[in-house]
Amino acid sequence: MLFDRVKPLDQIMATAEKKSLKRQLGPVQLTLLGVGAIIGTGIFVLTAEAGQKAGPAMMIAFVIAALVCALAALAYAELASMIPVSGSAYTYSYGVFGEGLAWTVGWALVLEYAVAAGAVAVGWSGYMNGLLISAGIPLPEVFRTGPYDGGLFNILAFCITLLITGLLILGTSKSAKVNAVLVSIKVAALIAFIWFALPAVQDENFKPFFPTGWGSPMGGIGVLGAAASIFFAYVGFDAVSTAAEETENPNRNIPIGLIGSLLICTVFYLLVGYGAVGAMGSQPMLDANGIAFHPGSPELAAACKGSEALVCSKEPLAHVLRVLGMPGIGNMIGLAAALALPSVVLMMIYGQTRIFFVMSRDGLLPEALSKIHEKYQTPHIITMITGAGVSLFAALFPVGILADISNSGTLFAFFMVAIGVMVLRIKQPERHRPFRVKFVWLVCPLAVLGTLLLFLNLSVYTLSLFFGWAILGLVVYYLYGRKNSHLGNGTEPA
Ligand code: ALA
Repeated sequence: MLFDRVKPLDQIMATAEKKSLKRQLGPVQLTLLGVGAIIGTGIFVLTAEAGQKAGPAMMIAFVIAALVCALAALAYAELASMIPVSGSAYTYSYGVFGEGLAWTVGWALVLEYAVAAGAVAVGWSGYMNGLLISAGIPLPEVFRTGPYDGGLFNILAFCITLLITGLLILGTSKSAKVNAVLVSIKVAALIAFIWFALPAVQDENFKPFFPTGWGSPMGGIGVLGAAASIFFAYVGFDAVSTAAEETENPNRNIPIGLIGSLLICTVFYLLVGYGAVGAMGSQPMLDANGIAFHPGSPELAAACKGSEALVCSKEPLAHVLRVLGMPGIGNMIGLAAALALPSVVLMMIYGQTRIFFVMSRDGLLPEALSKIHEKYQTPHIITMITGAGVSLFAALFPVGILADISNSGTLFAFFMVAIGVMVLRIKQPERHRPFRVKFVWLVCPLAVLGTLLLFLNLSVYTLSLFFGWAILGLVVYYLYGRKNSHLGNGTEPA
């Protein structure tokens, strides 16, 4: 039953044209949206987590994650340019594998986008709390973090999410303009970091280079464990493809937006990773047996008490510069992160609402959700529901756990997209492909293997949550979606 009800690609495009969003985004705006979605908590916050997992070899983790993303981006670009409609991996899967698997992918994308939005909001709150503390106006401790982090309710993460939801309801183009300003701020912060950290790089900070080795499957530690987590830093480029229906000339602009934004970010990350490790060192905190503590664990929190180590910092980039004796610049970088991370939350919630929008347009979720606001031309109902859900995750859960859970959903979606490209090359070789992956029989199998490798190096805890969520999704599908599907019932809206 998972493989039936394949929706013909021409029908997918026709449905999109019937009930569509306004096409208003060009290549520069799209690349900016991509960079806006990519650079965020991953580089600004999870660099410390990657250090705890892999030590200086986290730089290799950055390279591995970038390679897997580059392979997946090529696959995405081919499908996104062939099927330039909203819904990303969900829509492609509908046209390639059929409704059941498409649903599973859409359900996993909730993890990717909504949970990631929560993770970024929590990462932002770390920088913001740091700034409030330096300004002498700290929030009460119970409102700084969620219950797993020693607090009660992360009020800042909660509020920022609600604010961004409001912006999205007012309309894409207005929020895209705000986004462009914020993207410039965070790019400037990364450039400043690289500028000041690189001259302080010292050879001894790279020794020992491999303190935790490569790691073992489902262990969540070591270079591969770090790659599986830092993968989060690259997630977001595919959000560009979810904007396909709102893009002018999508066949040309979507591949430009996807690959361009990924490339820009990779260059920045490699320089930032090298600067952070080289200037300060990033040795993990080890237990009495010499094993690295798991990031996000109470044991690590205890070991970190009073420590200046990079791996203990909640605002690692600002921290490195403070330790290097440049507190003013460190604080400026903290301020830039605090100003700019909300743009990532924006892109993630945006991506999520567009996927729900398409799923409800297909009848797999209640139709009322895809209603478009008369004045603002945005799917306001689904945006409100998504925003409410994300604000609660953000208020209650810690950043590292949310990021890893998000990665599990994303890796699954990338895996399906890479397989989808190959299946379509066989099933519909004649179909027009405005962007064709070169060496597809090398690139796509490598993308499949790469996503599988990272997926299997997430922790057992993360993987159990992923499979639990997938099973819940299948239950919802059989109870609601399968019965109400427009494709299944032959009731495409007129
Ligand atoms: N790549 C995004 C970030 O790092 C999700 O925040």
